[in-house]
Amino acid sequence: MSSGLNSGNVSCFKSLICRGDREKLHGHKGAVIWFTGLSASGKSTLSHLVEKKLYSMGCSTYVFDGDNVRYGLCGDLGFTEKDREENIRRIGEMVKLFVDAGIIALTAFISPFRKDRDRVREIVGDYSFIEVFVDCPLEECIKRDPKGIYQKALKGEIKDFTGISSPYEPPENPEIIINSHIENFEIAASRIVERIRRTFNINL
Ligand code: ADX
Repeated sequence: MSSGLNSGNVSCFKSLICRGDREKLHGHKGAVIWFTGLSASGKSTLSHLVEKKLYSMGCSTYVFDGDNVRYGLCGDLGFTEKDREENIRRIGEMVKLFVDAGIIALTAFISPFRKDRDRVREIVGDYSFIEVFVDCPLEECIKRDPKGIYQKALKGEIKDFTGISSPYEPPENPEIIINSHIENFEIAASRIVERIRRTFNINL
């Protein structure tokens, strides 16, 4: 059966130190906190706030978002459905390694397609994955428009723009929903941290 790999003759070196050993060192489990939602819904703000709170509790964390990934690892990808699928696939494989390293990885990508998000959940393992739906009405995101890109998309200057000319599929069963147009961000971030603490038994 094909492995799906183009690089042949590869085999993984078996680690002398395992995930459990690394988790013991960090004092908590490795996990992925996956934020999804429209552009300008508040994913980045929330994920960084959650990271700050986790950091001050002594957790080992890292935030991935469009800015640090689309400029580097995924710099060759655009916004067609196929490119977005590849974007999320690569991020999924990357966060899987972070989980194995015992780190709490927080991600802030639109990730508009349900099947792509579900595939990451599958790769990482349901028990290590928390999906946070940052639910903000499109009209509010258009009003916020911090980068001016909704205006461009509405004028047709950007194509395949999520919410305007490309679909967003909301999660059906997210672990957490944040109504970011009405909830206070500090309180919402604390709510997410509490859920992380409970789910992964963090007693730092
Ligand atoms: S994803 O759909 O593949 O998950 P990602 O989160 O990496 O998208 O990038 C989204 C960011 O890229 C947006 O916040 C916005 O600033 C910018 N962007 C540029 N073009 C588009 C587009 N066509 N659709 C959505 N976002 C875009």
